[in-house]
Parts: sequence; structure tokens; C-alpha cells
Amino acid sequence: MLLMPLLFPAAAVAITLDISSPASIASAAGTAAYNMMTYYTGNQTGQVPGILPGSLSCNPKADGTYCWWEAGAMWGSLINYWQYTNDSTYNSIISESLQFQRGPDNNFNPPNQSRSMGVDDMLFWAFSALDAVESNFPPPEGNDPSWLALAQGVYNFQTSLWDTSTCGGGFHWQVYSFNAGYNLKIAIANGGNFQLAARLAYITGNTTYADWANKVWNWMASSQLFETQGDMLYIWDSTDSNNNCTNADNLVWTYNYGTVLAGAAYMYNYTNGSSTWESRVQQVLSSTFSLFFPSEYGGNVMTEMECEKQLNCDQDQKSFKAYLSRWLAVTALLVPSTASQIMPKLQGSAMGAAGQCSGGGNVCGEQWYSTTYDGLTGVGEEMSAMSIFGANLINSKMVPLSLRTGATSKSDPSAGGSAGSSPPGELAKPITTADRAGAGILTVIVCIVTVGGAWWLIT
Ligand SMILES: *[C@@H]1O[C@H](CO)[C@@H](O)[C@H](O)[C@H]1NC(C)=O
Ligand SMILES: *[C@@H]1O[C@H](CO)[C@@H](O)[C@H](O)[C@H]1NC(C)=O
Ligand SMILES: *[C@@H]1O[C@H](CO)[C@@H](O)[C@H](O)[C@H]1NC(C)=O
Ligand SMILES: *[C@@H]1O[C@H](CO)[C@@H](O)[C@H](O)[C@H]1NC(C)=O
Ligand SMILES: *[C@@H]1O[C@H](CO)[C@@H](O)[C@H](O)[C@H]1NC(C)=O
Ligand SMILES: *[C@@H]1O[C@H](CO)[C@@H](O)[C@H](O)[C@H]1NC(C)=O
Repeated sequence: MLLMPLLFPAAAVAITLDISSPASIASAAGTAAYNMMTYYTGNQTGQVPGILPGSLSCNPKADGTYCWWEAGAMWGSLINYWQYTNDSTYNSIISESLQFQRGPDNNFNPPNQSRSMGVDDMLFWAFSALDAVESNFPPPEGNDPSWLALAQGVYNFQTSLWDTSTCGGGFHWQVYSFNAGYNLKIAIANGGNFQLAARLAYITGNTTYADWANKVWNWMASSQLFETQGDMLYIWDSTDSNNNCTNADNLVWTYNYGTVLAGAAYMYNYTNGSSTWESRVQQVLSSTFSLFFPSEYGGNVMTEMECEKQLNCDQDQKSFKAYLSRWLAVTALLVPSTASQIMPKLQGSAMGAAGQCSGGGNVCGEQWYSTTYDGLTGVGEEMSAMSIFGANLINSKMVPLSLRTGATSKSDPSAGGSAGSSPPGELAKPITTADRAGAGILTVIVCIVTVGGAWWLIT
């Protein structure tokens, strides 16, 4: 009898969401934020601040482990949460985390992560620093670098990674050539750096950043990553420099569209409304709607098409809808003509997500088009739900701030260190043949000591 409740759990209850009530939306976002933060242990004694479980040995295929970049993205989503709701519960943890993981050169490249450091990974931390700049998040204490300087540090580091020796240009996925996947030139690394440059142009008004954003866009547009078919723009996930990027992998992800969309929206606004950028925004936006808001679910519910229905999204992929949610909301502000198209998608998706947050304790699954709890739970699912709820609270008081319109973070155009070919620090040393030989020699010594010890015991 005592086991009965376990065997027959009470019927799941979804989050109640009144989409016309800011208080109701904020409460839903607060529930998802709370559930998300139950996974964070970096503020406990003996744990490393700023990262999620598993971040020191990244494996997105393993449940319950999260790569370093996702923690960086999570801090940004919580800065957005604070701005949307005015709930400052997590602010000190956010600040501590961003500063702790900034690395020795103040550019989000900590040596612990070098063995899998991606250009995109650094960028998601930089986006969070930019979220802080654009919302006047409380400034760092003491001599810690400003939020803007941290993002400029990433920009300065990454420009020297631009590689024209293959594919006519572009960023490799990985920062260091010894890492697996270095050969790939992928959409999120290039689109992400484009967005970073566009936001720095918007924030500082410095045309150097805008020129760079144009250059990255132009390369992507000329590469196989962008493919136009009629009105549709496909932004494929990756190309391979081993074959000079002659073909793409034909996978589409929400975050690639969101990254490029928001970057274009910042460029549109920075240029005071260039028609070129407006039509690019419109093309990415309508392609986003066609691909990720399928008519079979009513046309207003965001869906990760490549993996969600089959429930085989990996840990990284489960968080992607969080970023598209945020960047759709920002686009609605920066390109006012898009707001009436975007708002119904944000509302429909939030109502869908509320229905899917029907696990025990209102934990959220990922299939927002269904009110039957899909059984999944984790940081990505909660971050996505929190971000789509919060996106519905965005209003004209939350327009990203620039130095011209009131952002107070201090600019440092020469922040960060330049990229060397090898990472800083002993921990980051790649596994080389010298190391392997060294390990072999060590084994021989251990054997001699063991045999010698045994001989001593016997005699
Ligand atoms: C860590 O942060 C959480 C909020 O996410 C809080 O509930 C908890 O008390 C904090 N733990 C410590 C040891 O500060
Ligand atoms: C790097 O890893 C070591 C060992 O786990 C830890 O003590 C240190 O705090 C980590 N630093 C960062 C920035 O993650
Ligand atoms: C590689 O691709 C670039 C850009 O498409 C092209 O300019 C270059 O000639 C190609 N190189 C080779 C060796 O085919
Ligand atoms: C946009 O307009 C502002 C105000 O007139 C001006 O200062 C700025 O230089 C313009 N930006 C661009 C990129 O033309
Ligand atoms: C840029 O964004 C602001 C804030 O929403 C908006 O008022 C302005 O009209 C936008 N600029 C253009 C050219 O649309
Ligand atoms: C603009 O940005 C570039 C690139 O970081 C920098 O070299 C230059 O000093 C900046 N100019 C100003 C006026 O800040």
C-alpha cells in the first residue's frame, strides 16, 4: 500500500500560464529557473564555480553531463531572466561564474577547457557578457574586467583565428588544431562570431566591428553553409575544410538560425535601417518559421526538427530553443517591423512549453507541441522553457542598451590576449607522442619497482 503512490503517480499537472498576465509569465519563468538551478552545484564548498556537472570532461552524449559552453549560455539566460522579471535571486552566482571562468587572458579561454575549446564555446560566454552590458547588469567588483571588456577580449582573440588557407576563409570549429573536429568550419562558430561583431558595433558604434561582421556574413553567404532555394534560406550546420568545404551536412538547428537572425537584426539597427539588412532579417525569419514552427502543430510552436520527435537530442541540442527564443524577442525590438510576426510564435510556444512542464515538481520536457510529459528533464529543457516564458515579457524598456543609449560598462578595445597556436598552462598540454612515450617509460619503472618489491618480500 505504501508503494502505491510511487507505482501510480498522481496525474501530472502542467504549469498554469495566463499569457496575457506578466505576473503569471514571470511565475512560470521563476519555476523553470528554480528547477534549472537545482542542477548547479558550483556554489557548494569544494566545487568549481561557473560550470555544470561534467564540464571538465565534455560529452554531450552522456545524460546528466553538460559541456562548458552550456553553463556560459545558462548565465546569459539568467541575466535575461533578471531583466524580464526583476528577480535578482541568481545575480551574485551569475557574476561570480562569469568572472571565475574568464581565463587568464580575460577572454573566456580557461586552460581547463582547452582540450575541447570551440570558437562557438567562447562565444556563448561572450554573449552572456554582452547580455550584461545591454541590460546594465550590476558591474563587476574591484579590478575585475568589465562585461564589455570580456566580450571584446573574445573578439580580439578570435579575429586572429580567421583562416583563409582553406574554403576562402571562415572559422574552424575548434580553437586548437590538435582537437578533434578542427577540420570542420561550422555555422555556429561563424554565425556566432558574426553576431559578436554585430553587437559590438551596435554597442560601441566602432565601424571596425561592423566591417568584420560584414566580412563574416559575406563568407558564410558565399560558402556552402548558406543555400538559397526560392524564398527559403537553408543554414546548414557544417562544412569540412578537408575537402575545401565543397559540400555541407544538410542539418538545420534552431540556434544557428537564431544566431544569424539576431546578428542581422543588430546590423539592421546599427545601420539605422539598411534595406539590405532588413531583407536579410526577413529572409532568415521566414525560413525560421517554415522550418521550426511546423504547421502540423498549428504553426506557432517551436520545434527542434532534427531530433525532438524521436527524443534523441543530445544535451547540447536540448538547450538550443532557449537561444532562438531570446533572439526572436530581441529581433522584435531591433527590427520593429518584425514584432507582429514574432509575437504569436513566442506566445504559442510559451503556452506549449507550459503544457509540457508537467513532470513532478513541474519539471519541463522538450516536446512543446504536446501536453503529455515526454519524460525528459535537464538544464537544456528548463533553460528553453524559462527563455520562452521570459521572451514573452520583453518590452520597449528592454531594448539592448548601447554606449550611446545608457550602457555603462567600460569599453576596452584592446582587451584580452591574442591567440597563440598553443593554449596557455600546463593542464592544457595536448597529448603528444612525447607524453605517450613518457607514459611508457613510467610503466617500465613501475614494473621494475613492483618486481623488485616482490623479490624483496619473498626473500
Ligand atoms: C547555491 O545556489 C542555490 C541557488 O541556485 C541556493 O539555493 C543554494 O543555497 C546555494 N548554495 C550555497 C552553498 O550557497
Ligand atoms: C580547473 O580545474 C581545477 C581542478 O579541477 C580547479 O581547481 C580549478 O578551479 C578549475 N578552474 C576553472 C577556471 O575551471
Ligand atoms: C577552395 O575554395 C575557395 C573558396 O571557394 C576557392 O577560392 C579556392 O580556389 C579553393 N581551393 C582549391 C584548392 O580548390
Ligand atoms: C545612425 O544615426 C546616428 C544618429 O543620427 C548617427 O550618429 C550614426 O552615425 C548612424 N549610424 C550609421 C552606421 O550610419
Ligand atoms: C532600433 O531599435 C529601436 C528600439 O526598438 C527602435 O526604436 C528603432 O526604430 C530601431 N531602428 C530602426 C532603424 O528600425
Ligand atoms: C575600434 O575597434 C578596433 C578593433 O578592436 C580598435 O583597434 C580601435 O582602437 C577601436 N576604435 C576606437 C575609437 O575605439
